[in-house]
Amino acid sequence: MAALKWQVEDGIAVVTLDVAGKPVNTISAAVKAEFRSAFEELAKDASVKAVALFSGKADNFIAGADIEEFVALTNAAEAERLSAEGQELINSVAQLGKPIVAGIHGACLGGGLELALACTYRVASDHPKTQIGLPEIQLGILPGAGGCQRLPRLIGARAALDIILAGKVERSAKAFRLGIVDELVPQAILRDITLEAARRLAGGWRPRRKRPGGFKGFLLDGNPLGRRIVYHFAAKSIAAKTGGNYPAPPAALEAVRTGLERGMKQGFKREAQLFGQLAVTDVSRKLVQIFFATTELKKDRGAPNAPPPLAVQRLGIVGSGFMGSGIAGTAVAQAGVDVRLRDTELGRVGAGLRAARDILDDRLKRRRITKYEHTRLVALLSGSDVYSGFGRAELVIEAVFEDLQVKQNVVHEVEAAIGPTAIFASNTSTIPITRIAEAAKRPERVIGMHFFSPVARMPLLEVIPGAKTDLETISTAVAFGRRLGKTAIVVKDSPGFWVNRILAPYMNEAAHLLREGASIDGIDEVMTAFGFPVGPITLLDEVGLDVAQKASGVLFAAFGERLTPAPGLAELVKAGRMGRKAGKGFYRYVDGKKKGVDHSVYAAMGVHPNGGPRAAEIVVRLVSAMLNEAARAMGEGVVRSPRDGDLAAIYGFGFPPFRGGPLRHADDLGAARLVADLERLAGRFGARFAPCEVLREQANRRTKFYA
Ligand code: 3HC
Repeated sequence: MAALKWQVEDGIAVVTLDVAGKPVNTISAAVKAEFRSAFEELAKDASVKAVALFSGKADNFIAGADIEEFVALTNAAEAERLSAEGQELINSVAQLGKPIVAGIHGACLGGGLELALACTYRVASDHPKTQIGLPEIQLGILPGAGGCQRLPRLIGARAALDIILAGKVERSAKAFRLGIVDELVPQAILRDITLEAARRLAGGWRPRRKRPGGFKGFLLDGNPLGRRIVYHFAAKSIAAKTGGNYPAPPAALEAVRTGLERGMKQGFKREAQLFGQLAVTDVSRKLVQIFFATTELKKDRGAPNAPPPLAVQRLGIVGSGFMGSGIAGTAVAQAGVDVRLRDTELGRVGAGLRAARDILDDRLKRRRITKYEHTRLVALLSGSDVYSGFGRAELVIEAVFEDLQVKQNVVHEVEAAIGPTAIFASNTSTIPITRIAEAAKRPERVIGMHFFSPVARMPLLEVIPGAKTDLETISTAVAFGRRLGKTAIVVKDSPGFWVNRILAPYMNEAAHLLREGASIDGIDEVMTAFGFPVGPITLLDEVGLDVAQKASGVLFAAFGERLTPAPGLAELVKAGRMGRKAGKGFYRYVDGKKKGVDHSVYAAMGVHPNGGPRAAEIVVRLVSAMLNEAARAMGEGVVRSPRDGDLAAIYGFGFPPFRGGPLRHADDLGAARLVADLERLAGRFGARFAPCEVLREQANRRTKFYA
């Protein structure tokens, strides 16, 4: 069935793209062919004075080039040709000789935006679903259909690089402020305004665009000398952010620079060449796998045959501390649900509500919500020192002190206040859900929802069914987590769940390295170079040394010697060095800002930095410790699939995405090599490195996690 349809109304050709049988429009080879022939006809048809381009999808304009198509490519030359063909098509649109207006509602991304940029005028709906951007970098490629050329010319080099190099997607209001779209209108009148613009353009009117960025824009974007400064700082920022692990951002910078300094034609050529090289890199393949895995997960209800989730409109939260208030603010901001916060004292409730409101204030400040939305959302937050208002909640999440007895008391109290179908979720990070549910009258409605701190920013949610949890409870927790913008992964009710379990041996090993003379910043630098956003020692400071100590105690009790708590941690906790929240841990913090290593820690731990093991040795020890535990936990069914395990590690603590996740990385190294490394390390450092059965078996049978 044709994806592209058009009819002429009063001299305006109204073109609608609607790719049959797909939830979103993408630009495939077939769609390109249709565009080509349609635009040839439009050029010839003398009755057509202007064109208005719309999407036939309810909430999507164009999601970009068809990603499936370019992952099928096997060499750089083919990929370069694909990019060049895309550029040609879009150039032919730009050179139609008749004005074209794009009426944009819904996601307008990648190749979709590149097409819109070739139009004469862009009108966008102000709906939150209208997201505009060039996310290609997130897939390890660059905008390869002219985006590296047209966006900088439209909005200036600085603003364009800001979007292209980070793969940013903006709401339409921001895109309007930046000058990417010319008009912002309510969805209801998008069609009329777009047609009206097309009629005006057909009548000879031309939009006037101011040079973006004012005088500073002229100095920096408007001349080659200024742009050299822009390129210099962009290159510096890329190096700092990617550590050289991601080839796409420097390539995109080069494509932009070539176009601005040597002309569009050279720019297109270089853009296509670089696209070709990037599209077949291992990094791009890994990032695309993550995109498809994340997409697949969106449809997963959390368990086979799980029924549709309960609709949650009212949320009860028990415990108004850092986690409780974080969940409250995030739930209101993301899902617009009514939140009732309960704590034992009104003073604490007030503090919790203020902290939840801070999340909304922050969104307002960053213009993610309007003043009107802010007022409406703030009104959804309320609190109490009793359970009033819990009777109508469909879901209650507790975030009280990590103690089994305390949590069981809360279950008891909450069950007395809520309706018979309401769900009770615990935000515990260490206590088995099945134990908490022992105190419940309705254990089938009890589940774990383990959020990460800070809740508003961390993208992962571990959902933990207990032994008796029913399927509707699972699907409701998963769906609600997703509404909060989280990647929700179902994990087994076993100590440490997935994330803390595989982090424990990694953090412990970092402490062993410190004792052997490695320096705090040395270890962190080696692991950020490996690709982690922060090193293990900084991570300890972020998590809180007391929290890490508690978790490692639980894991030691469950798994014994292999997970013996990190040496030296207990002394630091005793001395009040809890990490960032206390202003001191391994690093010093002043007004919340990290201020370098606190050298007195070495004495407090009784160690002397002497250079320690070589960088390569540090990496092997830390990474092997984590992969070994991940393989073991996978074998125990702690996660349902390698996909889940990898996504949880990437979203939970930033396992380097370009390595695809710990299990994908284990596959890349190969079980035989991993086992050999682990055996060598076990020989030197003891049983904590003994390779697990899963890896041994994989090495023997030459199998992998991913078939
Ligand atoms: N190519 C192929 N398939 C795509 C796609 C794309 N660009 N974008 C979305 N899809 C598919 C998804 O895989 C999913 O397929 P399925 O139903 O078979 O599982 C389906 O469309 C629906 O996607 P979501 O579940 O993600 O739907 P949402 O409504 O949650 O999100 C979206 C929609 C915001 C458009 C999101 O899908 C998205 O971010 N897509 C990718 C956007 C992107 O990266 N575009 C750049 C592509 S590369 C490019 O354009 C190169 C050019 O410069 C040459």
